Amino acid sequence: MKRVYYITIIMISIMYLGFAVKTDEQISDEKIDKRIDAILSKMTIEEKVGQMTQITLEVISSREGEASSLVIDADKLKEAIVDYKVGSIINTGGAANTLDDWQEIITSIQDAATKETRLGIPVLYGIDAIHGANYTLGATLFPQAINLAASRNKEIVKEGGSITAYEVRASGIPWNFNPVLGMGREPLWARFWETFGEDVHLTTEMGKAYVEGQQGKDISDKTKVATCIKHYMGYSVPKNGKDRTPAWIPERFIRDIFLPPFAEAVKTGAFTAMVNSSEVNGIPAHSDYHILTEILKGELNLKGFIVSDWEDIIRLHTRDRVAESPEEAVKMAVMAGLDMSMVPYDYSFYEILVKLVKDGEVPESRIDDAVRRILLVKYMLGLFENPYPYTELSDGFASEEFTEANLNAARESITLVKNENNILPLSKTSKVLVAGPTANLLSVMNGGWTITWQGNNEELYPKEKHTILEAVQEKIGENNVIFREGSSFEEDINSAEAVKMAEKVDAVVLCLGEPTYCETPGNISDLALPDAQLMLAQELAKAGKPIVLVMVEGRPRVINKIVDHAEGIVVAMLPGMEGGRAVADILFGDVNPSAKLPFTYPRNVNGYMTYDYKPLEVFDVNEFNPQWSFGHGLSYTEFEYSDLKLSGKNFSVDDEITVSVTVKNIGDREGKEAVELYITDLYGSVTRPNKQLKAFEKINLAPGESQEVSFTLNSDDLSFIGRENTRIVEPGEFIAAVADLQAAFYLK
Ligand code: BGC
Ligand code: BGC
Repeated sequence: MKRVYYITIIMISIMYLGFAVKTDEQISDEKIDKRIDAILSKMTIEEKVGQMTQITLEVISSREGEASSLVIDADKLKEAIVDYKVGSIINTGGAANTLDDWQEIITSIQDAATKETRLGIPVLYGIDAIHGANYTLGATLFPQAINLAASRNKEIVKEGGSITAYEVRASGIPWNFNPVLGMGREPLWARFWETFGEDVHLTTEMGKAYVEGQQGKDISDKTKVATCIKHYMGYSVPKNGKDRTPAWIPERFIRDIFLPPFAEAVKTGAFTAMVNSSEVNGIPAHSDYHILTEILKGELNLKGFIVSDWEDIIRLHTRDRVAESPEEAVKMAVMAGLDMSMVPYDYSFYEILVKLVKDGEVPESRIDDAVRRILLVKYMLGLFENPYPYTELSDGFASEEFTEANLNAARESITLVKNENNILPLSKTSKVLVAGPTANLLSVMNGGWTITWQGNNEELYPKEKHTILEAVQEKIGENNVIFREGSSFEEDINSAEAVKMAEKVDAVVLCLGEPTYCETPGNISDLALPDAQLMLAQELAKAGKPIVLVMVEGRPRVINKIVDHAEGIVVAMLPGMEGGRAVADILFGDVNPSAKLPFTYPRNVNGYMTYDYKPLEVFDVNEFNPQWSFGHGLSYTEFEYSDLKLSGKNFSVDDEITVSVTVKNIGDREGKEAVELYITDLYGSVTRPNKQLKAFEKINLAPGESQEVSFTLNSDDLSFIGRENTRIVEPGEFIAAVADLQAAFYLK
């Protein structure tokens, strides 16, 4: 008896030792799993499918117009939450709400969810806060992603993500449909500016920094939100350039170019992903088991859930016609791996899926998996502890500190691409003519997803913010500034008068570009800047005064006809709410520009190429001849690069390679420089790109100051997707290049 007792004790101790080496993380994972299992075991099929159903705020509210406040309809709210057991609500209900209104809206939704339903599961509210809390009035609205990428400053991206999270969470919302991790490799695409540009490494690093900033270490922190990486995957390169049209991307390029930013974001802790609204290789992404389940949930091991994009499940039937009925569409999407449907206008998804499960068409185990994932995110966000807004965050909302960070981001995100005869910076004692359709509007600097979806209701913009014109007036005094629009986006207005005025000034600041748009309404068929604007530049040139061109645009509109007419060119893209001030700071030298293009600016409408082109693209008569390449960007000071050194000449796959270089500011003013390391793989079994960015760092140097910058590479950085569609590393010769310095090394 005693022996049995001892043996039992020993065995228990051994078992305990065996299992006791659990990490804290495993223990807390298990605790969460248990809580989720406990809830799941009590849920009916209806309650489970309700959790998978997402509707838009419009369904349960009304509003008179974009300028008035939104009113929640109590009956419709009850219908959604109690009758249909809806687990998620999104969007803004037509236009931005005040912080107080948001807090009230979220409170009434959570009241219904936690007090009036059987299980009291909180609602997961989601929003598109893509450049700050753009659907909360008065929020800190940052430069759009394309600008953040130009800054080459990961800290700025991280801080932007963090401030956005604060203001979104202050609005009572814990889930943000951002970052966009599609590659900006089709400049015609209306959502080009939502991307971090054309480069894989840059997008991967900026996406990672953004996720870190938004989520911090723990998304239950009241100043953090859950990210939703989107649009997974391949949405950004429609073959005909129009939003939501088919892409053709072979698996090799999917894995080489499009997957890495998503993989890194999931590794960094992104919990949710939204699906590409379009189709790749003839397969609508919402029906693609391979992409959703095998790659995203399998290979990448996404812990949270996958949400559809707007109406996209039903569109498998109504638009794409891969499903013969709405029922088939729902079954197809759910079985492909979709966990939540952004329905978002009705309860059709709920009704259909409940029936499919009851009829045995969709196994309950699949919806259990989906609901488990959704509940996990709700738990991780701490919604079961407190689903309500943290009103104490209101005080810090849009603080001066946040505005300063935003202004700094804008300043670092604007690229100086041409500065003939050092025309810039302009003297503060000069008289200038400000002209062009983007000179006196805030909307054009912010782009879509600002206050409204299209972002184009100028009346709703905060009056105290500065347009470019206002910022220039403030900088050099109203008396020194004349304004004539000259042309609208498409038509001449008073160009003749503008030319006359140009004769009277020292320089012309000509602000051209695009009106505000997003998604499909922003589709265009011609990348060239409209004639009226080109004409305005050509006419103004006749006045014989130096022209400084400021391009305010979401995509690189072709301007080769006027580039020679301008001595200075600033590519401002979409610098956000402080963009006016930032542009003026650069034009008049209070800020030294430090951005580099995150995309290749095409010279011609056709023949667009990215900087990482293949050998054939420059063979024979072919050439790479863009207006400006990826990585181009000027400063008011000059940097000299020297001493490019490698930690060796021959490496094996397990070695790390250190590349260092010395950068010196040899000009006479302080400046920031983005130091970039490029690698060329000379020979490969699959054709190798011209060169590829592999590391970058932004530094600040006083006049005369120098700094050594070093980067570490490993074999991953030299790998690529081979003929078998798997990631491989091949031995051979490589070239490391920083600025115009180069060094060769060999991989054994
Ligand atoms: C867009 C998404 C967005 C969603 C919710 C869709 O039309 O493609 O990017 O997150 O709407 O507003
Ligand atoms: C959504 C779009 C949708 C639009 C309709 C936006 O907020 O993101 O996808 O088409 O609202 O109003």
